[in-house]
Amino acid sequence: MQIVILNDAAAVAAYGANIFVTQLINKPASVLGLATGSTPVALYQALIAKNKAGDISFSQTTTFNLDEYLGLTGAHPQSYRYFMDQQLFNHVDIDKANTHVPVGDAVNPVTACQAYEDKIAAAGGIDIQLLGIGRNGHIGFNEPSSGLTSRTRVKTLTKATIKDNARFFAEDEYQPHLSITMGIGTILEAKKVVLLATGESKADAVHAMIEGPLMAKCPASALQMHQDAVIVIDQAAASKL
Ligand code: GLP
Repeated sequence: MQIVILNDAAAVAAYGANIFVTQLINKPASVLGLATGSTPVALYQALIAKNKAGDISFSQTTTFNLDEYLGLTGAHPQSYRYFMDQQLFNHVDIDKANTHVPVGDAVNPVTACQAYEDKIAAAGGIDIQLLGIGRNGHIGFNEPSSGLTSRTRVKTLTKATIKDNARFFAEDEYQPHLSITMGIGTILEAKKVVLLATGESKADAVHAMIEGPLMAKCPASALQMHQDAVIVIDQAAASKL
């Protein structure tokens, strides 16, 4: 693991964005693994600006998102497909047909998970995977106790994650308790992994990921086994190292 500690969230986003810009300049036909949550938003804004300036193009790029809520259509404003369209895809020159998010309203979620794995393989695998981290150490929606070699599958969200993500939902709005997520094994197969974490609320998870034992209780600790994992964090997230 390469650990990069920067002053603040803005510096983390800029550093992360630069890795993706370099990737796209070197290989415009890259296969990108993308993430949702509040952490990557500033990175996406930086990529949009670079795209508008003509410095990078997504026209040959393929993307695969980590996860999706089970039971939501892509048109649902709380779905991760909707999030990605709003935060990135609608603002860059990407062909939407080349953007993939697990299908939240699949008739058969089990076959949909296998189909997602097959699509990643058919694309040649993921060149670079962006990750955030949950306060409980989850990556994607691989909650604590997830198998360290797991593949794309349906996962039940923990109470802690449901509570953490409740801020995105209105008080009387239905909040899914199930998800489809790439597995830890799927994530570890990406050629490069870039995890961003900012703020004091992530300090315990960051400590467990980097300095704790390799264990299913902290899914992000599996990144200790990856040959090219870059962990980009701010001072607050690094405060327990
Ligand atoms: C969600 C997503 C994760 C993300 C995490 C942290 O649960 N499934 O991929 O890393 O939230 O989100 P945030 O960046 O908003 O803290």
